[in-house]
Amino acid sequence: MNREVDTSKAVEIAEGIYWVGFHDESAGFHCNPYVILDGKEAVLIDPGSIPHYPLVLNKVVSVVELPRIRYIIAHHQDPDLCATIPKFEEVINRPTSVVTHTRASVLIAHYGLKSDFYAVDQKDWQLTLQSGRRLRFIFTPYLHFPGAFVTYDEKTKTLFTSDLFGALSFDWHLYAGEYYIEGMKAFHENYMPSREILAASMRKLKKLDIKLIAPQHGSLIDENILEYIEALENLECGDYMFYQD
Ligand SMILES: [Fe+2]
Ligand SMILES: [Fe+2]
Repeated sequence: MNREVDTSKAVEIAEGIYWVGFHDESAGFHCNPYVILDGKEAVLIDPGSIPHYPLVLNKVVSVVELPRIRYIIAHHQDPDLCATIPKFEEVINRPTSVVTHTRASVLIAHYGLKSDFYAVDQKDWQLTLQSGRRLRFIFTPYLHFPGAFVTYDEKTKTLFTSDLFGALSFDWHLYAGEYYIEGMKAFHENYMPSREILAASMRKLKKLDIKLIAPQHGSLIDENILEYIEALENLECGDYMFYQD
């Protein structure tokens, strides 16, 4: 069963955490930006692409005063999550830090940013907000970028997974339904490089106490979390290797 939610508005998916994406009926591959509100600070996660900017900005403004945004997490350098960072910098209009891996920062700099970088690999893989709330970063190398990582919010036990746990589907719902796992596998089979690489990171994620998986594509997973992790742990992927030229 898919739970129906009013996706025309920002949706609170955990205490103080908002999904600020939109239902694009023409897309088989949705982008999901998020905002974490924490006291006087806010964190914007994977803000998104240029065509999505007006809609995403409206949703962000509906949940947070822009100058409160202190950090922008960019899980890697792709345009579907980074292209609007310079636009957000303009409207936030105060110094922000872009939280990413050093390897991604080298590429993200090409978008022409003003922010400084907070390199997770040089900061003990964590960020502590003013309130003391800790975000932990878990390295998921080569999934799908060498410097890929995911973000774990200790307070709500939400895991922001970037491209991991994303899915392809024209029948999109904010929360994963019974067919989600098939769309998720289809995406990972050719997007992620190898079973060995995928399984190694899934073993790390299994050690976390996760209440909610919030991917950058597809749907939120808040039930049977272990089943989804194990589906990826056991998945044969890298299948472009076997396509005919
Ligand atoms: Fe990506
Ligand atoms: Fe992506």
